[in-house]
Amino acid sequence: MAVKFPSRRPTLLSVVMLGALSLSLTDCSRKSPKMLYGSNCGICHHSGDGMPGSVPPLVGRIDKIASTPAGKQYLANVLMNGVSGPITANGQPYNAEMPPFRYLKDDEVAQILSWLSARGTTQPAPEFSAQDIAAARANRISSGRVATERETLNKTTPLP
Ligand code: HEC
Repeated sequence: MAVKFPSRRPTLLSVVMLGALSLSLTDCSRKSPKMLYGSNCGICHHSGDGMPGSVPPLVGRIDKIASTPAGKQYLANVLMNGVSGPITANGQPYNAEMPPFRYLKDDEVAQILSWLSARGTTQPAPEFSAQDIAAARANRISSGRVATERETLNKTTPLP
C-alpha cells in the first residue's frame, strides 16, 4: 500500500517527529528494573516495605526466600499465578490477594525479582533468570493453591 505524501519529500518536521517516535519506542523496551517495579508493584508494595496489615513487605525478604531453590520457585510462582490466602510475613498476618503478572515478559519479571533481591542483605544476592520465570509460567495453578504450597514450604524452610 503506497502512502502519498503531499510533497515528494517528507518535510523536515515529519523526519524530526519520526525520530522522536523511534526514540520513545526504544525507551519503552529498555525500562530499568526500578521503573518496572514502580509501575507494576509500587502501587501496593510501595517502596518495598508494603502496607501494614494489607500488603507484605518485599525488601529484605525476597533475598532470604530466594536463597533456596524451592523458595525461588515459590516467588516465580507468585508472579505467574498470584497468591491468595492467609500468610505470615515478618511475623505479621496478611490475608489478601496478589494478582498474577503474566502480561510481563519472563525477563522483566526476572529483573524485578533480582532487583528486589539485591536490595536485601544476603551476599551474594540470589538472582533470577528468564528461565526461572518461564518454568513457573508453564505451571498454571490457582492463587489459593500457591498459598497452600507456601504453607507446605514454610514447614520445611521457614519463610521470613
Ligand atoms: C494490587 C496490589 C498488588 C500489586 C500490584 C502487587 N502485589 Fe504483590 N502482593 C499483594 C498482596 C495483597 C500480597 C499478599 C497476598 C496474601 O495475603 O495472600 C502480595 C504478595 C506478594 C508476594 C509474596 C510474599 C510472601 O511473603 O509470600 C510477592 C513475592 C509479591 N507480592 C511480589 C510482587 C511484585 C514483584 C509485584 C509487581 C510485579 C507485585 N507483588 C504487585 C498485592 C499486590
